[in-house]
Amino acid sequence: MYKILAKELLSPVIDYIRVEAPEIAKKAKAGQFVVIRVDEVGERIPLTLADWDSKEGSITLVSQQIGTSTFKLNSLKSGDKIMNLVGPLGLASEKENFGTVVCVAGGVGVAPVYPIARALKGAGNKVISIMGARNKDLLFWEERLKSVSDELIVTTDDGSYARKGLVTEPLKEILERNKEVKRVISIGPAIMMKFCSLTTKPFGVKTIVSLNALMVDGTGMCGCCRISVADVTKFVCVDGPEFDAHKVDWDLLLKRQMGYCDEEKRSLERYKTCKCHSS
Ligand SMILES: Cc1cc2nc3c(=O)[nH]c(=O)nc-3n(C[C@H](O)[C@H](O)[C@H](O)COP(=O)(O)OP(=O)(O)OC[C@H]3O[C@@H](n4cnc5c(N)ncnc54)[C@H](O)[C@@H]3O)c2cc1C
Ligand code: FES
Repeated sequence: MYKILAKELLSPVIDYIRVEAPEIAKKAKAGQFVVIRVDEVGERIPLTLADWDSKEGSITLVSQQIGTSTFKLNSLKSGDKIMNLVGPLGLASEKENFGTVVCVAGGVGVAPVYPIARALKGAGNKVISIMGARNKDLLFWEERLKSVSDELIVTTDDGSYARKGLVTEPLKEILERNKEVKRVISIGPAIMMKFCSLTTKPFGVKTIVSLNALMVDGTGMCGCCRISVADVTKFVCVDGPEFDAHKVDWDLLLKRQMGYCDEEKRSLERYKTCKCHSS
């Protein structure tokens, strides 16, 4: 059992959760994730390590409430316990000195982008970050991301804060004016990552994405997270989660993400109606 040390709302639908997990905190690297199971009847869900503190023996998770498991997680308070926590899983991000890099975060993607931007800044890169959300209420960690970036551009789809528009617009402008950009890292909803990939492709700038495929075991055994990269089958949990965006079969990823939509909707309705903890 893993004790929740702190829990707060970063936005009406996004939870910050700091959990006691000393063994994971000791080994954590930017880009890795954990698989959690909230209770004994819960499903296993992957969440990225948004931060960690090896001295305190804690890890930080940021979770967007979208279905049964993330709503269950939201119902827990500081002092409550999470049943299972496995990690760190997946391969760590590359943290070389590439020169100038652009980090693009969409929605809850700010959480996984933050430790990657910090690691890239620490490796001597010039880090230009772009963070975007549908509206002002869904933005969080602006100051945190700013603290590890040389430049930060914020966008909202509806213009309720900062620049109006999608993250791909400043991304294109940066690539047009700055030929030194050597790498783009983009994390957010799959559709946003797909469009970031389409934006960078004509410029020939290597683009890395962290894929949010559906997962079960998280250790390469069930095949649930399989995707196609350069026509080769890969498992997001053990071969990723980061991949070369220009080689990903985006349509397959998007189709497989929707594979259990009806069941997930029914499960959430049941959970909201009876608050019973079945998945
Ligand atoms: C490696 C990895 C790291 C992740 N890190 C984070 C993180 O740090 N924070 C965070 O909030 N989320 C993260 N996710 C996504 C998170 O795992 C899912 O949101 C979660 O499993 C949903 O579970 P649920 O039971 O609440 O919703 P479900 O009932 O499973 O789904 C509800 C709705 O969301 C859609 N959905 C479900 N899973 C995903 C998914 N993986 N991607 C896109 N849409 C999905 C479904 O189609 C459905 O419509 C990560 C995913 C992966 C693979
Ligand atoms: S989650 Fe089972 S193989 Fe990746």
